[in-house]
Amino acid sequence: MGLKMRAGYHGTGPGVITPDGCAVELYSRLSVGVEPDIVAAAVPVGAHVLELGCGVGRVTHSLLERGFTVTAVDESQEMLDRVRGARVICSPIEDLDLGETFDVVMLASFLVHAGDVEVRRALLRTCVRHLATGGCVLIQREGEDWYTNLPRERVDPSGFTVRIVSAEPAGDGVNSVYAEYEFPDATWTQTFLARPLTKEQFERALAEVGLEVDKYLTGDRTWVRAGVAA
Ligand SMILES: C[S@@+](CC[C@H](N)C(=O)[O-])C[C@H]1O[C@@H](n2cnc3c(N)ncnc32)[C@H](O)[C@@H]1O
Repeated sequence: MGLKMRAGYHGTGPGVITPDGCAVELYSRLSVGVEPDIVAAAVPVGAHVLELGCGVGRVTHSLLERGFTVTAVDESQEMLDRVRGARVICSPIEDLDLGETFDVVMLASFLVHAGDVEVRRALLRTCVRHLATGGCVLIQREGEDWYTNLPRERVDPSGFTVRIVSAEPAGDGVNSVYAEYEFPDATWTQTFLARPLTKEQFERALAEVGLEVDKYLTGDRTWVRAGVAA
């Protein structure tokens, strides 16, 4: 039986759709981008990475190839079934408590923008709970201007189009975002809730759980390395 959809999250298109509206087949088609380069430049060689929300292992596989050890977590078993070479754990990130710690905890894919503030806090607390002394948390956040000038589209060289069609206010400072992924033979859509966070709001969200920014890793400040606050 499939998992229950998260309220405000929805997806359409062929194959299994996860509770946050992601399509397993779509993520299997997407190639990896610069994410592994950013991670590799920011953490010690061969670190043990706890990757939260790993999907089908798009980034996981590239990290493994670079010599990292990865424990990969996702709430979708169908996503995890496609991960190769990593230890996998099927769980909501919010509830994860492995009783062990990691050099690096990675919360990518903009999960920190969860619509529900309590969910966001729980995600970040999971990062802290699994962080080894002296370790770091890597977070991928949205660009600060992402929801201006919509619709916005990008044609990927591999032959599909990603379109962020709209971001409609859904109350309490949260946007309902609607995105389309158009391939020659199939189209997937995802609707999700995203709470925009300015740099200050983002840093306050980290502070709530005892984390602080160590370094913004990219010029657009979408990738962040954080550690336990001094
Ligand atoms: C947008 S996909 C990205 C997957 C992968 N990080 C990538 O970049 O290819 C988000 C993934 O996170 C998982 N996910 C989202 N929220 C989650 C949560 N609260 N607990 C566990 N998994 C979650 C979804 O099942 C999905 O596989």
